[in-house]
Amino acid sequence: MTIKPELMETLRKKRAKISQHIAPEKLSTMHAKGMLSARERIDALFDAGTFQEVGMHARHNAVHFGMEGKDLPADGVITGSGYLGNQQIAAFCQDFSVMAGSLGKMQARKISRAMRYALKTGIPVVAFKDSGGARIQEGVDALSGYGDVFYANVLLSGVVPQIAVVCGPCAGGAAYSPALMDFVIMTRNNSYMCLTGPEVIKAVTGRTTTMNEIGSAEMHAAVSGNAHFVAEDDQHAIDLVKHILSYLPSNNTEDPPHDLSTAIEETTDHGMNDLIPADPSEPLEMYAVIRRLVDNGELLEVHASFARNVIVGFARFSGVVVGIVANQPMVMAGALDLNAADKVARFVRTCNVFNIPLVTLVDVPGFLPGVEEERGGIIRHGAKMLFAFASCTTPKITVILRKAYGGSYLAMCSQELGADMVFAWPTAEIAVMGADAAVKMLYRKDLDKAEDRAARAAELAQEYRDEFASPYEAAANFYITDVIEPGETRSMISLALRKTLGKRELRPSKKHGNMPM
Ligand code: HXC
Repeated sequence: MTIKPELMETLRKKRAKISQHIAPEKLSTMHAKGMLSARERIDALFDAGTFQEVGMHARHNAVHFGMEGKDLPADGVITGSGYLGNQQIAAFCQDFSVMAGSLGKMQARKISRAMRYALKTGIPVVAFKDSGGARIQEGVDALSGYGDVFYANVLLSGVVPQIAVVCGPCAGGAAYSPALMDFVIMTRNNSYMCLTGPEVIKAVTGRTTTMNEIGSAEMHAAVSGNAHFVAEDDQHAIDLVKHILSYLPSNNTEDPPHDLSTAIEETTDHGMNDLIPADPSEPLEMYAVIRRLVDNGELLEVHASFARNVIVGFARFSGVVVGIVANQPMVMAGALDLNAADKVARFVRTCNVFNIPLVTLVDVPGFLPGVEEERGGIIRHGAKMLFAFASCTTPKITVILRKAYGGSYLAMCSQELGADMVFAWPTAEIAVMGADAAVKMLYRKDLDKAEDRAARAAELAQEYRDEFASPYEAAANFYITDVIEPGETRSMISLALRKTLGKRELRPSKKHGNMPM
């Protein structure tokens, strides 16, 4: 007995109708803008032939206001899972060509289902967001659908990696779900995110604005901090997704993909010395240091345009995957401010949940003094950094390159904040404040009496550096593990990481700490 041919024909027709609904001219226009269709995005993400779609035939409920007779292929979202190498990944992609990818009850059910599948199988979720937000016709059903999606985002948070690719104009609820995920990639020219658009802002506040000002990829990457990466187009965004995943485990019970077969070289990199300016007031270029330290000079920087006074990103040390947190003295002298604290705290939490060791490179003059900083809540933001480092239980290796002053010394993962090993270069200065400021504070009267005030101040500052702020002083009091040559840093970090990978740290049982927000 064979299946009736007309049944097969019906199946083929139904599949074609759902999957080939975009006119070729429309598709060409999208391609010209660097956009792929929803199905092309899914195809570009997965290894050929490994994607299994779930819910292709799912439909909206026609009783909703104004929805009679509307035919919405796959209800505007493609959901399922596939393979990237031997890693399974769940994915969904909203289809803007179907009622602007708007989210109704059925679309929400499909998305929530895909996320719960990821949760139970312990695999990452990749979400392509391309949506006008809540489907207006579906009213409270659409809102409830968003509630379900947000709830699933939170359930998955800290269990499996969640990556959002924002590749179209995402309004309202479509912007909240990415914000609940671990990484947000936005495409440079085609994506926007906002809760309310320019017209609503004008109507409510009277202020004229543009979508660029309130929602562009560049704005979110550099100003609001809502985007971690900017991609040039859809294909680049997908490449970035794969790159991010190459540093992450599938879930929180697994280790990241370390390659422990890599040998640790014991060579000294004398060139590192050349990167350190002789004058302590001249800034050090931290990117150059990082490039010399990590495998093949490769850093996948996260939040590259946001709070550029700190650098965070993924790299490898002799095969071990790490998260790097570093001050960047070339920007604002590397001082920590509100946004830097948010950027670091968030990244440290991300590394902690996915068992990624931290390498912290310190050259920090302090928290940025200022009225805006105080009024903006630098105390609670700085506390967030302290909280994030102290609660992180993955291996933590800190290297103090030059300045480490005051609260920022602690906030950059000192021994007290749980660093497993702290190395310092001979150029390190560890103190409550910089030498010049300390001398001014402590010797004001002596300086007033001095014949040559500047010369006396410089002399005292040098004494302060040599006697109080010297790394040997910290080492003598056993606040640091060792003073090392800059050229030894890579091998020291590599060894320290290998030795602490098996670290287990038990904390008091609790629901969760109450991190300052
Ligand atoms: C239903 C929608 C829709 C929506 C767009 N469409 N958004 N249908 N619900 N949310 C429809 C349009 O009517 C149009 O249908 C088609 O999709 C394409 O939309 P266009 O406007 O022609 O596209 P474009 O010019 O590219 O503009 C895209 C857009 C704009 C910027 C997204 O459509 C827009 O501003 N949409 C409304 C956004 C919004 O207010 N969403 C609700 C947010 S509130 P036709 O038939 O003409 O082709 C929200 C609450 C959630 O999300 C709260 C959770 C916390």
